[in-house]
Order: sequence, then C-alpha cells, then structure tokens
Amino acid sequence: MRVVSGIQPTGNLHLGNYLGAIRQWVALQDSFGQDQMQADGDCLFFLADLHAITVAVDPATLGANTIEMAAALLASGIDPERSTLFNQARVPAHAELQWLLAGTARMGWLNRMTQWKDKAGKNREGASVGLFTYPVLQAADVLAYGATHVPVGDDQKQHLELARDIAAKFNTDFGVDLFTLPEPFISPAAPRIMSLRDGTAKMSKSDPSDASRINLIDSNDAIALKFRKAKSDAGELPDRLEGLNERPEARNLVTIYAALAGEPVDAVLVRFAGQGFGAFKPVLADLAIATLGPIRDRMTRLLDDRAAVARVLEKGAARARDVAAPTLLAAQRAMGLQV
Ligand code: TYM
Repeated sequence: MRVVSGIQPTGNLHLGNYLGAIRQWVALQDSFGQDQMQADGDCLFFLADLHAITVAVDPATLGANTIEMAAALLASGIDPERSTLFNQARVPAHAELQWLLAGTARMGWLNRMTQWKDKAGKNREGASVGLFTYPVLQAADVLAYGATHVPVGDDQKQHLELARDIAAKFNTDFGVDLFTLPEPFISPAAPRIMSLRDGTAKMSKSDPSDASRINLIDSNDAIALKFRKAKSDAGELPDRLEGLNERPEARNLVTIYAALAGEPVDAVLVRFAGQGFGAFKPVLADLAIATLGPIRDRMTRLLDDRAAVARVLEKGAARARDVAAPTLLAAQRAMGLQV
C-alpha cells in the first residue's frame, strides 16, 4: 500500500483541507507500523509548489508559504520519521514524468476538467498553459511513486480519475504493466466542507473573504467570531438528516461539528434537535478551538526555526528522488528514450 498526496502551498491551511484531507493523511500514516517505510506501507506527502506557479505568484511569498504549510502539516501530525515530506520542485521526476505523460493525455480529457473551467473562467485564452496541463502534473505526482491510495477531498476526484485514465492508456499504448491505477481515498465524514458565507461554495484558500474559512492560524477569538457570523438560518436543528435538505449552511455547520467530533451526523442531530443556531454555534466554535488551537500552537513553535523545517523537506526530497527514480527510468525505457 503506498499513500501519496499533495497540497498547494498557497495561503493557509484551512478547516476544509484539514478535515477533507490532512486528517486522513495522518490517520493513514498512523495505521502503519513504525517500520512502515520498509514493510506494511509507505506514505509520501508533498507541497505542490509546481502546481502553485500555474497562476501568478510572488516568489518570496511562495517560499515562505511552502515552509509555513510544511509546518502546518507537521503540527497536524505528519511525522517525518514515518512519512516522506517534501516539496515537489526538489524532486525533478515530477516535472520529467509529466512531460512524458503529456503525450498520452488527451486535449479532450483536460478540456472536461471542472477545475480548469472554473479557474480559467471566460478568460481561457489568457490562462497559463500550466493551468490547463495541471492535471497531467498531478497524474505524474502519484504515478511516479506507484501510489495505491490518494487521500483527497471530493474536489480532486476528477483529477484522480484522469490520472487513472492516463496510467491505463500509457500501459496499453506501450504494452507495459508499469503504472498502478491510484484509488482516491475520500473522507466519508468531510468530503467537501463549504464556505461559512455561502453553503453552496467550497471552503477555499482563494475565496477573497477571509470570513468564509477557518484558517489554521486563526486565533481562538477569530474562530469564535467567524462561527458566530457564519451564515445559517432561523430554523431549529432537525432530529434527522432529511431536515437539512435545502438548508446548505445548516448542513455544513452540522457536518463540520460531526467531522470534528468524529461522530455520525445523525448522532449530532439527536443531541441538538430543537435548538437554534444561537445555541449551536458557540458549542461548534468551542469544539473547533479545542481541535485546531493545539495544532496552531505547535505550528507557531515549529516556525521559530524555519531552517529546521527546511531541513525536514530536504531530507524528504532526497528519499522521494530515490523512490521515483526506477519508475521514471522504466517509463523512459518503455518509450524508447533510453538506448
Ligand atoms: P488543494 O491544495 O486545493 O487542497 C489540498 C487538499 O485539501 C482538500 N480540500 C478540501 N476537502 C474538503 N473540503 C474542502 N473545502 C476542501 N478544500 C480543499 C483537497 O481536495 C486536497 O485533497 N491539486 C491539489 C494538490 C495536488 C495533489 C496532487 C493532490 C497536487 N498534486 C496529487 C493529490 C495528489 C490541490 O490543489 O489541492
């Protein structure tokens, strides 16, 4: 079993990233024994800095964000002794393999990617080539390591399906059994956490409104305030899930509570049925603070020594380069690039 996943080092880690992805990364890591790098399984997690440059970035900010996001992952429970943590740019196999796969991926496949359509919007002609081919790099990210399981939020499912299509077509076209078809591993509890300002939009790093998301670095007061101001409705909490139909904001807040508490949504509803959001929101805020507060404090301490975080990434990159090398070589051989 090989677990591989990435996160873009743009902005801060938010509650959607944490509940939708990072918590699963940590759980998968923790499910393996101490000797996991040899025996029962293996986890590689990376900062997708090469993906981040498909839109305009400020170089100084990107570097700082990469270290901060790495610290956020360490603070969330990623253990560099048991998982390989690195930034993509330090492992050239990602960029090399994506070029090899660019001959296999089809324009039509990429044209159907909803993230491309959303991000390019009406300005397709002005969007970067990288934004369009972004999912090919993402396929290379996981195929380079023979990933079997890719823990992601629901929004990345389509990109993972594309990675499977690319892997299958490459294997068929070149008559090899090289690439493993990766399985998306999506959290049942928090597949898609929504914005606190709009229950129909995903919680996102790129939302211009900071009130739309809980950031890992938010103070306890900021977390409480954001939940107090979160959009909800005037209704009471129902005793059953169906009672949340057509109430996207209410559903989102209950989902967040259930995911944080590690309880089924039904159990949460039974407990809070009949109460309004005036009563529910402070309890939710307390729970979020109890979970995120200690992670934020650990992250702050880690950032007192940024050089130490950079060293963790460098060590991870050295191992990732070793793991990816045989697959890259086999892909080159399959394509006649090694004589
Ligand atoms: P990114 O950086 O947007 O998000 C990182 C992870 O967080 C999940 N996520 C969410 N989950 C639930 N609710 C939300 N509101 C929410 N917002 C984000 C994402 O699904 C993701 O799992 N392209 C990827 C990064 C990437 C990658 C990869 C992932 C690059 N290469 C290879 C997996 C495998 C991205 O932009 O994620």
